[in-house]
Amino acid sequence: MGSDLNITQELQDYILEHGHNLHPVQKEIIEYNTSLGDIKRMQISISQTQLLHLIIKVSNIKKVLEIGTFTGLSTLSMSLALPDDGKIIALDKNEQTNKVAINFFKKAKQDHKITTLIKPALESLVEIKEKFELIFIDADKGNYKEYYERSLSLLETSGLIIIDNVLWYGEVAKKNEHDKITKTIKNFNEFVSNDKRVEKTIIPLGDGMTICRKL
Ligand SMILES: C[S@@+](CC[C@H](N)C(=O)[O-])C[C@H]1O[C@@H](n2cnc3c(N)ncnc32)[C@H](O)[C@@H]1O
Repeated sequence: MGSDLNITQELQDYILEHGHNLHPVQKEIIEYNTSLGDIKRMQISISQTQLLHLIIKVSNIKKVLEIGTFTGLSTLSMSLALPDDGKIIALDKNEQTNKVAINFFKKAKQDHKITTLIKPALESLVEIKEKFELIFIDADKGNYKEYYERSLSLLETSGLIIIDNVLWYGEVAKKNEHDKITKTIKNFNEFVSNDKRVEKTIIPLGDGMTICRKL
């Protein structure tokens, strides 16, 4: 049986050098996040920005919902792939990081495509009535199940839900006792794996992302 390559740092660097070029403002966000220290781990990886970009392009997606904006790297990466009349609604409860993100969106001349809603995502999700072609979930893990259910109802048929952090630093596959977040993610993965309303695959990029297509 064929198996996946073990991606060393060397190989990772090679992949990034030969992939899609980052926009200058994507680079600025990454530098800014690095200056924040450990919290940088919140942002998606560069390979994930490239995958999101490509998915949006090849699927001609125009409407995106994001749950978990932080300082804007994933939002901007998706926005740059959208056509000029494309639209992203980006949810996050943190006013401070949202201000930072909005400044980056303006700098990249993408702010006309992006609407940010600053409050607990579950509250925004009850108010949103329109449908989306792609929903990216990357916020508090304890609410993943609710985000997933609400996302399914806001998704067009054949639309995609992409969920980040599903491999949780590799913890989900370990046999030993798990902490609370690992248990929550394992239960969530089990649920999605058995969900007949979608077809899905787990991609081991970044911290692991599940891509679901609504049937
Ligand atoms: C992992 S970060 C998102 C990273 C972002 N996608 C990126 O690539 O930079 C998670 C974000 O979820 C937000 N968050 C956590 N709990 C939330 C909630 N209940 N409602 C809305 N946002 C929440 C945090 O403020 C944080 O900015």
